[in-house]
Formats: sequence, C-alpha cells, structure tokens
Amino acid sequence: MKKVIITGGAGFIGSHVVRRLVNQYPEYKILNLDALTYAGNLENLKDVENKTNYQFIKADITNETHIDKIFSAFQPDGVIHLAAESHVDRSITSPLEFVKTNVIGTVNLLNAAKNIWKNNFKGKRFHHVSTDEVYGTLGETGLFTEKTNYDPHSPYSASKASSDHFVRAYADTYGLPIVITNCSNNYGPNHFPEKLIPLMIHNIINHKPLPVYGDGNYTRDWLYVEDHAVAIDLVFHQGRDKENYNIGGFNEWKNIDLVNLLCRLMDKKLGRAEGESAKLITFVKDRLGHDLRYAIDATKINKELGWKPSVTFEEGLAKTINWYMNNQEWLNHVTSGEYQKYYEEQYS
Ligand code: NAD
Ligand code: DAU
Repeated sequence: MKKVIITGGAGFIGSHVVRRLVNQYPEYKILNLDALTYAGNLENLKDVENKTNYQFIKADITNETHIDKIFSAFQPDGVIHLAAESHVDRSITSPLEFVKTNVIGTVNLLNAAKNIWKNNFKGKRFHHVSTDEVYGTLGETGLFTEKTNYDPHSPYSASKASSDHFVRAYADTYGLPIVITNCSNNYGPNHFPEKLIPLMIHNIINHKPLPVYGDGNYTRDWLYVEDHAVAIDLVFHQGRDKENYNIGGFNEWKNIDLVNLLCRLMDKKLGRAEGESAKLITFVKDRLGHDLRYAIDATKINKELGWKPSVTFEEGLAKTINWYMNNQEWLNHVTSGEYQKYYEEQYS
C-alpha cells in the first residue's frame, strides 16, 4: 500500500488518523481530502503539515467532478473515509445536510474508487469509518456485536447506516474490496466543543452552565481517540475484506456521572473549591429520540487483530483536560463565529 486518501482528515478523529499514518509509514503518500467545514481545522495538523509524505486538498465529497479528478490524478491504493457530518443534535435540525455528505458523499467516493481501480482490486482497499449508533439503542444490559441488526434512530445514525449499506452494496455488486469499522464514542484532544466532553470542559473553564440532557441517565462507551486511530490502522492493513469490526472502550459511563467526574477533576486542576464546578450542572430539555445506551463488544477485533484500548479513562481524561487547558487559543478560534450562533440556537 503506497498511496492513501484520508477523507475528513482535518476533523477530530481524522486528524489523529492522518498523524498516525504519516508518522508510522514514511514511505506512503498520504492525501488528506477535507472540505474544512465548521468541524475541520488545519490547526489540528500543524505538526505534520510539512512532512514530505503528506499533502492536503480542500475538496467537498459531494462534488462528484472534483472527487473524480482528485482520484484520477492521485491514483490511491487505499481510501480511509472519515469525512462526515458527525453531530446528532445538528442532524435533528438539518437532516438533509447529513444525507448529502454522509450518503451522497460516500457514494461519490465509492464510485471514484471503483472507476480508477477498474475491477483490478488486488492490493486495494476502501475503509469506511462508521459508528455504533447504526445499531440503535441498548436497554440496561447487552452489547452491540457485529451481528446486531441495524436500527438507527437519529437522522445522523440513519445517514451513517445508509452509507454502510452502500459500502456493502458496492462490495456485493461490484466486488469492491471494502472494510467497515463501527466505533463507540471517542474523546481526546481536538474534539470539537459541541460534543459532550469538550463542551463540558470548555464551559467549566468559563464558569458557564453545564447542560445535561433529560435526567442524565444515558450511557455511552468512551474510547481515547488515539486508540481508535490505532484500530483503524490495524483494520485498514490487516482486516479481512467485506468484514465489519466493532471498536469500543469497555468503558461505560452515565452522562451525569461523567459530568460530575469532569467537575471534580477540573476543580482540582483550576484550584477551585471541591464541588464548585458541579454547581454549574443544569438539567435541560432532552434530545429528541435520545438513545439510552451504547456499548460495544470488541471481541472480534481483539481476537483477530490483537487490538484493545491502551489508554485508561483516568489517563485519557487527564491528557484531554491538559490539552484543552494548554490550547486555549485553539478553543478560542473554534468557538468564535458560527459556534456562538449554534450554541444560542441549541441551548437557549
Ligand atoms: P468531525 O465532525 O470532527 O470531522 C468531520 C470532518 O469531515 C471535518 O474535518 C469536516 O471538515 C469534514 N467534512 C464534513 N463534510 C465534508 C464534505 N462534504 N466533504 C469533505 N469533508 C467534509 O467528525 P469526527 O468526530 O472526527 O468523526 C469522523 C468520522 O468518524 C465520522 O464519519 C463519524 O461518523 C465517525 N465516528 C465518530 C465517532 C465520535 O465519537 N466522534 C465515533 C464513531 C464514528
Ligand atoms: O457513539 C458514537 C457517536 O458518538 C458518534 O458516531 C458521533 O459522531 C458522536 O458525536 C457521538 O454521538 P453522541 O450523540 O453519543 O455524542 P455527544 O457528545 O453529542 O453526546 C453524548 C451524550 O451526552 C449523549 O447522551 C447526549 C448527551 N449530551 C450531549 C451534549 C452535547 C448532553 O447531555 N448535553 C450536551 O450538551
């Protein structure tokens, strides 16, 4: 594998995947293709931007002609597809944006790959990065396995489920060599502060209310983002064709417990009295169609590829909090402009 296109490489997870591959495979040519929406930020890649095996092109995956041109010129051997609209709350207000990017954008990429590989699929691979949300919601018990039926509930998860089906359809219909990964909630540096953990850290720093949806008894399975990047690297290189692999943190937290934990950690970090930040917790209107619980059974990737999370939640949260405290400038940049408008509409 010599030439790899990574879509969405300027986003949260994508930037960690780009960094991992650029540093791990100096002999590769890595092309980061990203539209730089509100969630994409080249500041995330400052440390790799001058590496000789790295290149960036600003491109929108919904633009079929531009995508075809890029694929023809670059002739990738592999694609790791992360570009997406990724925030559930935004999908509830603007579902069509999610259909455009997540469904049509994915199909454009599948077509572009199919066209340049022209049925000669030896050594080629299309890796689609998806989510555990396609499986819907769990009750108090049980885990999502690779055999769990798809049952998406939000426009976001419906668009991701649809894109997964298209990826599989291209394997079944045209023989495209694909692999899909379905991961649980990531956290870590560069996470856009519209998502739970960075939003809480940002608000705690600024003494702003901490909006917890509903009663806060919703559960998510959290994984440190660099562990996800390692898993993607492994599956991209060693996963079996046409398979899907679940990736998860073995680390379930109810939202309210997680927010309280963040408050305690931040009180210490900021030299505040114990319990001071927790006073900011505010229960707000619930998310529509809110899935109760996600939890991943990651036995398959562990057994086949030897992957398991390497960063404990304690270490991961400490690294994350430190990163946000040391990168106030990054936070100021991404929370100016469009973010203010979004925040007002979402939380007023
Ligand atoms: P993100 O929102 O932080 O980044 C998305 C990136 O895609 C941004 O850089 C954005 O500019 C780019 N993008 C958006 N629309 C585009 C378009 N039309 N053309 C080209 N680029 C475009 O998302 P993330 O949290 O890093 O998620 C990355 C992928 O991983 C997504 O496919 C998401 O569904 C999946 N995923 C995310 C999580 C999570 O916890 N964040 C968990 C599992 C799976
Ligand atoms: O499970 C994987 C998915 O995780 C990814 O596919 C998505 O791209 C990613 O955004 C994430 O989706 P969630 O909806 O689980 O993440 P979010 O951080 O938005 O919310 C986590 C939980 O916290 C969820 O139960 C909603 C709740 N929440 C969120 C926000 C933003 C709050 O209580 N208050 C908030 O302000």
